Order: sequence, then C-alpha cells, then structure tokens
Amino acid sequence: LSAPRNFFVGGNWQLNGNKQEIGNIINFLTAGNLDPSTEVVCAPPTIYLEHVRKTLPSSVGVAAQNCYKVPKGAFTGETSPAMIKDVGVEWAIIANWAKVGHALEAGLKVIPCIEEKLEERESGKTEEVVFRQLKAIADNIKPNQWQNVVFAYEPVWAIGTGKTASPAQAQEIHVKLRKWLNDNVSADVARKTQIIYGGSVTTDNCRELARERNIDGFLVGGASLKPDFIQIVNARQ
Ligand code: G3P
Repeated sequence: LSAPRNFFVGGNWQLNGNKQEIGNIINFLTAGNLDPSTEVVCAPPTIYLEHVRKTLPSSVGVAAQNCYKVPKGAFTGETSPAMIKDVGVEWAIIANWAKVGHALEAGLKVIPCIEEKLEERESGKTEEVVFRQLKAIADNIKPNQWQNVVFAYEPVWAIGTGKTASPAQAQEIHVKLRKWLNDNVSADVARKTQIIYGGSVTTDNCRELARERNIDGFLVGGASLKPDFIQIVNARQ
C-alpha cells in the first residue's frame, strides 16, 4: 500500500535575490519541466512576496519565510499572516512553533520547522528535542487544519554546511515523527501529513534521499536559487 502523500519541494531563497535574479529564477521555474505530481513552493524574501506571487504560474505556490503572530498592531517591522494572505500568498515557513496557530487561523498553510543541533545529536537527545518541538506545534493545530501542515525536519548542522543527513539518518527521524503523530494525533494524520527534509539538499543527493519512504520531499536553500532546483523537484522521477 503506497503512502497517500504527494512529493513536496520548497525552495527557501533565504536572504538572496534582487529583482533581476528573481526574474531568472522565475524564468527557469516557468520554463522547466516540473513533475506535475510534485507540489512546489518558493519562499522569497518578504519584500518580493507579492511580485513573485503575481509573476509565478499559479501551479507553483509561494511562501513567506516567516510571519508574526498577531493580525495587526504596534509591531514595527513585522508582517502578519493576514497581510501575507492578503497579497495572495498561500504559505508560510515557520521556525517558531508559537506562530503556527496564528498563521493557520489566518488561512495560511504552514511549513513548521523541526530543528536539531549537532550537540543534541551527539549527546543522544535527538528524539527528545524533535518530539518536544513536534508536540508544541501539534498543540497549536486544530483537527481540521492538519491538511494545511507540512513538517520540515531540518538538522541545523546540515543547513548551508554542505553536510547532509544521510538518507538513513533522515528516514529514521521522519519515521519517529510519523509514529509520534500516529500515537498522539491520529493514524489518519500520520498517514497523510508530509514530512520533508531540509539541509544541503543538492542534485547529487536528492535522488537517494527521495527513495526513502518517509521522506516526502525537501526544503531546499542554496540549490533552490539555481536551475538545479528543477532536478530536485523531479527527484522521484
Ligand atoms: O530552509 C532550507 C534550509 O534550511 C536549507 O538550506 O542551503 O542547506 O539547502 P541549504
């Protein structure tokens, strides 16, 4: 029985790009042969969100890289989930679990990140720290909102370092996260919720990672700025 989950690939542009470079990315995304069964979402810097949403084909989703936790008020420099939604953007990457509920309430889909530091891994605390984060996030999700959630497991030691978790290492954590969802939320949520991996995903390692049953896609940083991204989107082909 195959898992009822589409492959999902997010491109987190982080603090990169200007109008010209973003134009180039949009061009290769528009011209590229993207596997239609992969859900693709790009996350430009906040200031370019509306421009990117208006320029990219609607088959590619757009995500904010962050958002604030209240709709409006005296919070200088922040961007609310309602504003993100208002400019037509569908998603937000969220590194801070406390913001997840607010973003979902505003009608955004969310990619909450579950992180792990090298010292936590080395001291055998991986399970404890990822479960603690998963619980904090899950506590903020209402039963009818689970379809709007894609988890990203991002070992901090693998982000932008060129050091990737091995397929077996990532698969092991994804299996544990899914089992936690099964035991603490529901079998249905565990079966349907996508868990993607982020940390130095490249054209060289994406196929091997994508072969793991519980790796439902990627959150790609550096490689999402280059045409290489198309190959990563198509890693399951
Ligand atoms: O959110 C994506 C980021 O954590 C991974 O970045 O450059 O290691 O692919 P990178």
